[in-house]
Amino acid sequence: MTEQGQFPATRLRRARMQPWLRELVAETRLHPSDLIWPVFVQEGENTETPVASMPGVSRLTLDILAQKTKEAYALGIRAMAIFPIVDDTLKSPLGDEAMHPKNLACRAIAAIKNAAPEMGVIADVALDPYTTHGQDGIVEDGIVVNDRTLEILCKQAVVLAEAGADMVAPSDMMDGRIGAIRAALEHKKLHDTVILSYAAKYASSFYGPFRDAVGSAKNLGSADKKNYQMDPANSDEAMREIALDIAEGADMVMVKPGIAYLDIIARAKARFDVPMFAYQVSGEYAMIKAAAQNGWVDGDAVMMESLLAFKRAGARGILTYAAVEVAKKI
Ligand code: PBG
Repeated sequence: MTEQGQFPATRLRRARMQPWLRELVAETRLHPSDLIWPVFVQEGENTETPVASMPGVSRLTLDILAQKTKEAYALGIRAMAIFPIVDDTLKSPLGDEAMHPKNLACRAIAAIKNAAPEMGVIADVALDPYTTHGQDGIVEDGIVVNDRTLEILCKQAVVLAEAGADMVAPSDMMDGRIGAIRAALEHKKLHDTVILSYAAKYASSFYGPFRDAVGSAKNLGSADKKNYQMDPANSDEAMREIALDIAEGADMVMVKPGIAYLDIIARAKARFDVPMFAYQVSGEYAMIKAAAQNGWVDGDAVMMESLLAFKRAGARGILTYAAVEVAKKI
């Protein structure tokens, strides 16, 4: 490879000597508009309840959500993802509350849109916040059943889109859900609702703090999600999941978790032309914060470096609980 040149004619350190030059040759850069801010919302007024396992993250009541939405918008953040904390009394085996047009998630969508009409709103489609068993779908004879779950997910997606969500994000990993949801949206003339598919979502232990935050951990107990979320051992299978979801009508696809799955992002990016998104999940966020609190790593620097790595690997949108603090720093 002559293009590589030879020492001393070629000295790669030359371009690293000055900050301005490093910036000129930087191949990747983080921008606030790359970030999607996931928020936990709860009932009540004027209350922020910290999530113990996620330092700096709180569950927000809708009035505070509105205020924080404006701040985030002013910092350049252009998309938020909503995760509701559903009252135990509203949970049921079928997750019926998910289909209620005035549920907390729907009201949170409206609160964000009122506060900042130009903010993009992404709503999760999955039943885990609403089920008494904490699974993403309906359980029959101890197993999460696929096709009956699809019917409910379709209704949930329509309700969220009608409440004003720009994008619905199925995170449940049922087979055929993208096609079913796309058809349900078309049927309701919701032609422009974007589907962000959690296409390659792994059965990961990095979701622990999230399950504490939404209160599904106690419902889930010792059960796991391995019969629908992917095996962390697999990469070819992720390509099949992504290909299917694109064929079924996904506008963009996500890989989740993030930092331990950069190979999946890079591989998918090389193969598919749809926008790829990445999710820096709760456990990744918690690990960085915990090490930083102990003074073991420079938390800000490690956060920036991990998020930059997502972009370098090929991700466009990046979900991160650190979106606001990172936007301040950029
Ligand atoms: C559930 C859902 C999960 C996350 C987002 N949506 C958890 C799970 O699958 O159990 C995890 C996000 C995170 O850990 O930050 N549908």
